[in-house]
Amino acid sequence: MEHEARQYLSPVWTHLTEIEMVRGEGVYLYDGTGKRYLDFTSGIGVTNTGHCHPRVVEAIRRQAGELIFGQMNVVLHRPLFELISELRRVVPQELDRFFFGNSGAEAVEGAVKLAKQATGRPNVIVFQGSFHGRTHLTMAMTTSKTVYRTRYQPLVPGIFVSPYPYAYYYGWDDDSTREFAIRELKRLLKGQTAPDETACIVVEPLLGEGGYVVPPQGFLAELREICDHYGILLVADEIQSGFGRTGRYFAVEHDGVVPDIMTMAKGIASGVPISCIAYRHALGERWLTGSHGGTFGGSPLACAAAAASVRVIREERLHENAAERGGQLLAGLRSLQKEVPRIGDVRGRGLMVATEFTLDGQPDEPGAKAASKAAAEAGLLLLTCGTFGNVVRWIPPLVVSQAEIEEGLAVFREALGRL
Ligand SMILES: Cc1ncc(COP(=O)(O)O)c(C=O)c1O
Repeated sequence: MEHEARQYLSPVWTHLTEIEMVRGEGVYLYDGTGKRYLDFTSGIGVTNTGHCHPRVVEAIRRQAGELIFGQMNVVLHRPLFELISELRRVVPQELDRFFFGNSGAEAVEGAVKLAKQATGRPNVIVFQGSFHGRTHLTMAMTTSKTVYRTRYQPLVPGIFVSPYPYAYYYGWDDDSTREFAIRELKRLLKGQTAPDETACIVVEPLLGEGGYVVPPQGFLAELREICDHYGILLVADEIQSGFGRTGRYFAVEHDGVVPDIMTMAKGIASGVPISCIAYRHALGERWLTGSHGGTFGGSPLACAAAAASVRVIREERLHENAAERGGQLLAGLRSLQKEVPRIGDVRGRGLMVATEFTLDGQPDEPGAKAASKAAAEAGLLLLTCGTFGNVVRWIPPLVVSQAEIEEGLAVFREALGRL
């Protein structure tokens, strides 16, 4: 039954379902009737440790009883240092300064502000199809879908867009796609934003909202070289791809690349809002004290949840489980692809996996939307993504078991059969 207050909820949000959930445990969400749903959205890549992981719950409980808030400009506190110590164990060692905010967009905003002050340059390069947030600056950096910018124009200036190496979209092999993307980036630096006016290149090391696209091997390393050559800062937006999601702690590791700045959020704290920027200390010397900050960033409660989450991922080796279960998921979806011709491509890394729907050589948004809807009705929550809305994305919690992946695949197969 619909709650009386439902009518007062802002209609600006979209909703995959209208189900009122009352409880979460591991990979499952439960509604008021006790019906369970396999949550393969992880709340858009947030609940990497699963819903209500006991160690995370315990850390939050303990911290809530001791100190919920201590404002960063006023005091310091123990959970902050515990979190930094945990992050030091997994974040590339070169990134040895940490700033905390509340949301992913806020981290991206902070990273760009840092890059501008550190380089003294005004412009930013992003990639086609990227998603960096919904605030005024990050909306201008987001090109995954026009809905995020419609009727909000004019946007913040100084943002330049280069093609992301999306091999399936272009219909090329990995090498040709990588070469094309790098050539176009170099052209952008010649034709639109001169290197000495370019503060940073911001890249999702695995394109998220834009379609779950794995860049060809070597692409990120070439970006690193270009940045080094021109003194441009490389910013890796690991907000969706981080904390074990792709089978490594961070997706940049697949290409052996260390960025200058890394943005993190989502999976960092299992659902308690907190985001983080990690950067090289040499940059920080040029980040003017007092020129950035925020009321809530780095609150004790969020830091305790984050420290516990990062520890759980490391100690329970959830990134390794992501790699194994991701292999199982890819294999299962590839076998399903043989039965369902509308699944044009299956790709991914770890537990960041895409099934791209194509009909008569064209993006098949109705197919993807119908698959996601049918799956939800059958108790499997799956989101879509991609500029054309034709990609079903698989983002299960990293604690997912072999049997739960099999269950998800079986429900999806059956749901597709009913389309
Ligand atoms: C790669 C990436 N960057 C930034 C963001 C923005 O994060 P938030 O929604 O917490 O502002 C997202 C959110 O989906 C994201 O996936």
